[in-house]
Amino acid sequence: MTRRVYIETYGCQMNVADSELMSGILADSGFATADNERDADVILINTCAIREKAEDRIFGRLGWLKPLKMERPELVLGVTGCMAEHLRDQLASKTPYVDVIAGPDAYRRLPALIEQATRDDSAMIDVRLDREELYAGQRSQRARGVSGFVTIMRGCDKFCTFCIVPYVRGRERSLPPDLVVSEVRELAEQGFKEVVLLGQTVSSYAVDGVSFAELLRRVHAVDGIERVRFTSPYPTDFDDELLQTLAELPKIGRHLHLPVQSGSTRVLEDMRRQYSAEQFLELALRVRREMPEFGISTDIIVGYPGEDEQDFEKTLELSRTVEFDSAFMFKYSERSMTAAARKRPDDVPEAVKSERLSRLIALQNESSRKRHARLVGQHVDVLVDGVNPRDEAQPKGRSSCFKSTMLDLSSSSRHGAATDGAALALAPGQLVRARVEGSATHTLFAVPL
Ligand code: SAH
Ligand code: F3S
Repeated sequence: MTRRVYIETYGCQMNVADSELMSGILADSGFATADNERDADVILINTCAIREKAEDRIFGRLGWLKPLKMERPELVLGVTGCMAEHLRDQLASKTPYVDVIAGPDAYRRLPALIEQATRDDSAMIDVRLDREELYAGQRSQRARGVSGFVTIMRGCDKFCTFCIVPYVRGRERSLPPDLVVSEVRELAEQGFKEVVLLGQTVSSYAVDGVSFAELLRRVHAVDGIERVRFTSPYPTDFDDELLQTLAELPKIGRHLHLPVQSGSTRVLEDMRRQYSAEQFLELALRVRREMPEFGISTDIIVGYPGEDEQDFEKTLELSRTVEFDSAFMFKYSERSMTAAARKRPDDVPEAVKSERLSRLIALQNESSRKRHARLVGQHVDVLVDGVNPRDEAQPKGRSSCFKSTMLDLSSSSRHGAATDGAALALAPGQLVRARVEGSATHTLFAVPL
């Protein structure tokens, strides 16, 4: 009988892409997809290890799944991805009912691991990292949609002192340009309108003499793709060629995610980031000046070992100066194996981390609100991807500058843009120009023209 797999994904977009990859690998081996855990013969939890909280959450989830496994011993329960790589031993001892533990480079062997787990009582563990594995030629099984991910780079060689990624995802390697372009073509043929190129430091891409800028040009040329996004670039890789390419190619999303981490050069040096606060600021302000239509978002860590009040104030100051459109903000979480865990005591008290995080979030909300408000009265191109969960009559989507935008169809007919309600219905995948009529901290409200 065909066995059904249910995959649950935690963490970043790269994990979402990896789940689609696993789905493809398993489908090619004859597995079917289950819609929920109850209907599944195999449950895979694809995990994140970036902060301790992420891992705690997954242990919690496994606790919830344990009774299911006790009820149906033939059920195969697997943990995949970064936490499987990081906490293989703890998983084997704390959650002995887990049957498969598979790291990010073991996905081709998943069908065999599941097969073995069905016959054997002990957990099947495969956490071998592989410098070459890019899953080239392996089809992903994607949910139909507007936006599709293409992983162009796996692993990371930067070894920022706080970060576990190089240890759990291994060394940096990149998919050759021809394979990137053929994947993008496949997405276009399947009806995807937007492609998001993924990697830890995509701007460092360099394969067979093809730079990231050149790769963007080749992806941009694929017919049927209306918008090209990428995440994340690394702040030191922005040469004139890349900036010019971004500015010139119309289908590139008007948005840059530039992880800064801290506004204190002393802390950045300690983190082994390869730029100073001044250099980051110069880049961000250059983007603001030369490409004012681009939104800029960032990642910031508060409470890194040794961060004092002055360091933190520099982070606030940098945030205030750049006025990020949005930011992911985190309390430092010590990760075993990393250089910071080995050399720096996690010495900023939890209460201080929390207090700094709240101050930073308050400032960021203010910045986001201002950046959104500044767009009122302007025109934005929105790629429709669904409906407003609070009002199903309102389509929603993302502006090119990556702002979540609700489209008010009722007022567009009032404004005489159209008269027939049916003609106004906007389906996911449509790209519409709209005038921004209102804004909130995280949302734009716009009327299609
Ligand atoms: N490749 C990205 C980072 C990927 S990890 C880059 O260019 O920097 C996503 C984010 O998680 C990081 O930007 C960082 O802000 C956060 N992060 C990573 N390790 C962390 C840790 N130990 N504690 C708290 N936040 C962390
Ligand atoms: Fe992590 Fe730094 Fe790479 S944050 S993913 S080691 S760029």
